[in-house]
Amino acid sequence: MTILKSPWTDDRGRKEQLDDHIQHSRTAYFGFQKVAAAEKQPRVSRHFDAVARRYDLMNSLLSFGIHHAWKRTAVRMLGLAPGAKVLDVCGGTADLAILAARSAGPAGRVVVYDINRTMMSYGRPKAAAARLENRIDFVQGNAEALSFPDACFDAAMVGFGIRNVTHMKRAFAEMHRVLKPGGKLMCLEFSKPAWPVFRWIYDQYSFYVMPLLGRLIANNRAGYLLLTESIRLFPTPRELAKVLSDIGFSDVRFRRLTNGIAVIHIGTKKTP
Ligand SMILES: C[S@@+](CC[C@H](N)C(=O)[O-])C[C@H]1O[C@@H](n2cnc3c(N)ncnc32)[C@H](O)[C@@H]1O
Repeated sequence: MTILKSPWTDDRGRKEQLDDHIQHSRTAYFGFQKVAAAEKQPRVSRHFDAVARRYDLMNSLLSFGIHHAWKRTAVRMLGLAPGAKVLDVCGGTADLAILAARSAGPAGRVVVYDINRTMMSYGRPKAAAARLENRIDFVQGNAEALSFPDACFDAAMVGFGIRNVTHMKRAFAEMHRVLKPGGKLMCLEFSKPAWPVFRWIYDQYSFYVMPLLGRLIANNRAGYLLLTESIRLFPTPRELAKVLSDIGFSDVRFRRLTNGIAVIHIGTKKTP
């Protein structure tokens, strides 16, 4: 087994993930591979078509079930009021939407918004099994151009999805646009573990064990290597907090989970 030097990219690499550089260079990262910016989204869609059937199972196996606790914490931090209208961007198989629908109660409404119909097709039966089908709608579309009017949601969330969006600032700006003043944003995303020894163990696990399990269980080694690589190019929690503040969110704060493997960012749309 090769011992990796740090596979975590430097600030220059991370800047290349942001809209300004992508617009200028017309290239974007797909894992560690640089592709034409226009190519990224179709590749991401093909990836999720391939992993959709085993997506929930793999999430639970690879995270030892911890992702459920992260998601519960993230939705709790949104502090949803009864009757809240919530948008779940890149909502996929609806885990966050189900938690949000429970939290917002019978008068609440949640929209799962995802570019990939196959991923959402695995979310619908889960919403029905939770008896929440009347509170959760599924809408297909691109996070970079949300198909909703301005100021119509009390909360917007994105869980483990923003890494996949080509122009992430544009997607956050769209979430800001559709939030009511005072509305809350929540972003749950993977990040870099804080302790070096733990980070090294996590790197070995991510580069060797995860792709192997991806191959054995989902017949998709490349997809799980892609997950591992894209995490290592993503902005740090502080950098992401600045992106959100620059877009116009106030009171931006973040909380590291499990030594920083995942991070929750919360921001508020300013009231005029
Ligand atoms: C890793 S999954 C996350 C699913 C879910 N939020 C969760 O936490 O389990 C990422 C999702 O983002 C969706 N996605 C990727 N790019 C998108 C885009 N530009 N617009 C909308 N959804 C997108 C994918 O189709 C996929 O369902």
